[in-house]
Amino acid sequence: MKTMLENIKREALEALNAAELPEHVESLRVKYLGKKGELTAILKQMGKLSAEERPIMGQLANLVRSDIENAIAQASAAADQRRMAKRLEEEALDVTIPGEPLEIGHKHPMYTVLDEIKDIFVGMGFQILDGPEIEQADYNFTKLNTDEGHPAREWSDTFYFTEDSSILLRTQTSPMQVRAMETRPLPIRVIAPGRVYRKDEVDATHSPMFHQIEGLVIDKGITMGDLKGTLNTVVEKLYGAGTKTRFRPHHFPFTEPSCEMDVQCHECGGVGCRVCKGEGWIEMLGAGMVHPKVLEGCGIDSTVYSGWAFGIGLERTALRRFNISDLRLIFENDIRFLTQF
Ligand code: PHE
Repeated sequence: MKTMLENIKREALEALNAAELPEHVESLRVKYLGKKGELTAILKQMGKLSAEERPIMGQLANLVRSDIENAIAQASAAADQRRMAKRLEEEALDVTIPGEPLEIGHKHPMYTVLDEIKDIFVGMGFQILDGPEIEQADYNFTKLNTDEGHPAREWSDTFYFTEDSSILLRTQTSPMQVRAMETRPLPIRVIAPGRVYRKDEVDATHSPMFHQIEGLVIDKGITMGDLKGTLNTVVEKLYGAGTKTRFRPHHFPFTEPSCEMDVQCHECGGVGCRVCKGEGWIEMLGAGMVHPKVLEGCGIDSTVYSGWAFGIGLERTALRRFNISDLRLIFENDIRFLTQF
């Protein structure tokens, strides 16, 4: 029995010495000291010993037990320490490593221009309106003095949703004039930016979707002089003091008189070049005095109130502002292009 006890002790100490992980140590504890363990099995045989042998073997067994227990405690502490060291190494967090830089986007050039324009108008006391892109033909055309049969209502130019041509993608932001006049108290000073849609093929100057900003002022005693003064101020703020404009007569069904405003070519200063196609001027927007029929249709007394409206293409304004030659660049969202602005 003595040899057996000594063998168990030697074996146990060797195994514990080699144990790396806490769970190895634990399974060795069970193997040697557990209820069904090897030492326990030997102790159960004590009863077979003689009365002289029993206390001696008992003492030896107790020594073996406490040696194994000590070895287990040591091995367990060492294994715990090893595990902790490994975790510390694996989960090390070096707070001195610089963070990964986040790629921050920036404003699209067209929205830069839109925000500039909004700022200018807000500074002049205008409010900014938003309105539906899916619009009733009534608002897009009829209430704007563009009756059925007018060429602007052709199926070839307009995206209609219904066979009866009553619902469409708005072709202009001008329906917002009517929506503003129908819902807002007088006087009115608003701009309404947004998307508009026309059946155009994509090329360097056309897109079936583009943006306009509608402007509308309604008050007592408003004249064409107010229109010119306001738009000249906007142009000088956008393109620099001293930028010249000219107003040409034009026709829109919902304004009378109507005009188009040109800006002197920034490239050649008005002499004529490739950019302005030899004209010296670049067309910028359509405008006019709101037609009395439109005012009356919105319940506004045209003998007391008058007003002006304009509609400006946002993409074109941005192209000119940043000297960009092709409208398609605005929509392609090529990062190499966008990061230049
Ligand atoms: N809606 C017109 C267009 O799209 C522009 C315009 C707006 C003209 C307001 C006059 C007044 O061409």
